[in-house]
Amino acid sequence: MISCRLALALAAALCAAMPAAAQQLPRLLPVPAEMAPAAGRFALTASTALVVPAGDAGARAAADRLAELLRLSRGLALRTAAASPRPAIRFVRAATGKAESYRLEIGGDGATITAGDDAGLLYGAVTLWQVLTQDGGKGPVTVAGLGIHDAPRFAWRGLMLDSARHFQSPAYVRQLIDWMAVNKLNTLHWHLVDDQGWRVEIRKYPKLTGISGWRYPAVAPGAPRLPRTGGFYTQAEIRAIVAHAAKRGITIVPEIEMPGHALAAIRAYPELGMGVPIPPGTESDWGVFPWLYNVDDKTFAFLEDVLTEVMELFPSQYIHVGGDEAVKDQWKGSPAIQAKIKALGIKDETALQAWFVHRIAGFLQAHHRKLIGWDEILEGDVPADATITSWRGIEGAITAAKAGHDAVLSPSPTLYVNHRQGQGPDEPPGRGDVMDLRTVYAFDPAPSEIPAEQQHHILGLQANLWTEHARTEARATWQFFPRASAVAEIGWSKAQGRDYADFVDRLVPQMDRMKPLGMTPATSAFAVRPTLDYKAGEKRVSVTLANQSGLPIRYTIDGTPVTARAPLYAGPLALSLPTRLRAASFRGTATVGGAIDQRLDARSVRFRNDEDLKTCSRKVVLALEDDYPAAGKRAVFLTDIFAPCWQWEAAPVGGAKAIALTVGQIPFNFQLGADLAHVKIPPSATPEGEFEVRAGTCEGPLLATVPLAAAAGNPGLTRLVAPFPVRAGNETLCIRTTARGLDPMWALESVELVQ
Ligand code: ACM
Repeated sequence: MISCRLALALAAALCAAMPAAAQQLPRLLPVPAEMAPAAGRFALTASTALVVPAGDAGARAAADRLAELLRLSRGLALRTAAASPRPAIRFVRAATGKAESYRLEIGGDGATITAGDDAGLLYGAVTLWQVLTQDGGKGPVTVAGLGIHDAPRFAWRGLMLDSARHFQSPAYVRQLIDWMAVNKLNTLHWHLVDDQGWRVEIRKYPKLTGISGWRYPAVAPGAPRLPRTGGFYTQAEIRAIVAHAAKRGITIVPEIEMPGHALAAIRAYPELGMGVPIPPGTESDWGVFPWLYNVDDKTFAFLEDVLTEVMELFPSQYIHVGGDEAVKDQWKGSPAIQAKIKALGIKDETALQAWFVHRIAGFLQAHHRKLIGWDEILEGDVPADATITSWRGIEGAITAAKAGHDAVLSPSPTLYVNHRQGQGPDEPPGRGDVMDLRTVYAFDPAPSEIPAEQQHHILGLQANLWTEHARTEARATWQFFPRASAVAEIGWSKAQGRDYADFVDRLVPQMDRMKPLGMTPATSAFAVRPTLDYKAGEKRVSVTLANQSGLPIRYTIDGTPVTARAPLYAGPLALSLPTRLRAASFRGTATVGGAIDQRLDARSVRFRNDEDLKTCSRKVVLALEDDYPAAGKRAVFLTDIFAPCWQWEAAPVGGAKAIALTVGQIPFNFQLGADLAHVKIPPSATPEGEFEVRAGTCEGPLLATVPLAAAAGNPGLTRLVAPFPVRAGNETLCIRTTARGLDPMWALESVELVQ
């Protein structure tokens, strides 16, 4: 058979030479390994039967899922049957090659899905659902004959969900599993415990969830308390989620962090730590905490008890034991730990962590499970059968593979979907360095640094969502999708012919298809981003439009809605002020989300919000949500927490008489350890601090000082106005805070030059 990714990239010449029918091959995601047109046409109607072999529970589950998907998408209620004389959808159990592979044959007598395992039958069903929903319509549909033989490139195609920093409901986790399955993702790495929360009920240790399932979010000094947040999964809920995942072909790999990221456990059972007091509220900080488990036999008994209950809940072969970011300060400062290092005759605290990991690996091995850990576990003598999750780039995977260990690629920042995927008013909080859809899709899961003979050690890849800043389920969804669909395709499909424009063209209908499954994905890749070039004093502005997807942009400037007949954007627009600019990205004749509707006038060209400014440095740029109000919309501040400072390039200062800054105060709740010394905020003249505005660079002439005294008592946003000296034309402004302390940290929401 011939694989054809339509008239793009490598396959272009091949597709051009094929008959017209071939060019109408369905647009599938992930792209199947082999797909070719076949004779006949299949008419799906409300009376089409799903034929399942008697007594085959896996085939029955795949048929039930297909029936459910077609009910949601097309409104058809299909029934299963033991046989059918008419064209039907048939499930056949027979070998098709490697695990999870399947064959799908569509022709005049219906559709036949053949696979040797349950996952293959399910993926055949998912592909058929995609084939039968190409038109986006309801009711019966007829599709052209087709043959697909498909198999995954990698065995581990995953997402990591952090339920510790912010808790998601069991219903949400089930939904996420559904969304994963229709993209042929098969592994949910579930981060269940961390410094901020313990989310899995452990019967023997009820305080883990009773105490550490809950916390009060941090607020700036003097700001009103926010409601308690948290939750945990009962064992019954976990069993139900695991069963649901199994039905969707998904393995849940639970993660119980050790020896670091252990504050939640130590908060509940202080005897597990080194006796270092925990200041109230610490559990609502972000960052790398110094609280580690001690290495007493009683602590190992605790961990083994916990792992025993975890293994009862999760049938996964792999159990993740964390191992990352275990800063050793408390071990260094503990006489008991130092005595243990001496007694063991080992070198140092790193060797002690390796000893710790070995002990746990032995326990897991005795229970026929395999240890997987973050790449820090490679720093000591690592257990021979340990698998590595490479997160500090791909170095961990390279080291692991060369040493004969299996590895999963989840490099920061590329596959860290806690990074924002764009900028603009719709983007939720997250890490500020943008990892857009194109960057994720370009990730190479077979890096050339790993010799060919070791490549088999790469099990696959996963995208990680850390939820410090993803406070709601809607935001978690936005961060995951559609980037998770890119990860799915990289993990499933062959590398040859991978083409971003082609992916986008298949992604848009996939996102539409997932809407009946309750999904509202990010529109970041389609959002139109305007860049204004305004020369002080002029009555017009030049506007550049762009989107990440590369899809065509159409626009209007007369206030009318943007339709497929609106002018196509081809280059910078010279617009007379005032005007109303509307623009949207299009796939064919349909808009795809992320439209803009903006009034451009004398005021708006002299206004920037923080999304349109540059941070002066990029050490740890975060988009942080305000801690006020408790309910309703809160501001999101884009700032480098190591240097709160912004640059407005080519600001139209000519004619400005005043400068208005809208500012907010946020809690400085970051565990930075020794890095705290690198947080740079210039000293202030007044107790509450000031914002200062300088010309050119942050060392340039001081143009304005904006005292914060008037904002200090307001937990929300405050607009402060200060006189601005007479300047001409355009020049870059540096806007930064001064302060006498770190908490609160002041942040800039927007700036306006007032005429
Ligand atoms: C990690 O991001 N600390 C694994």
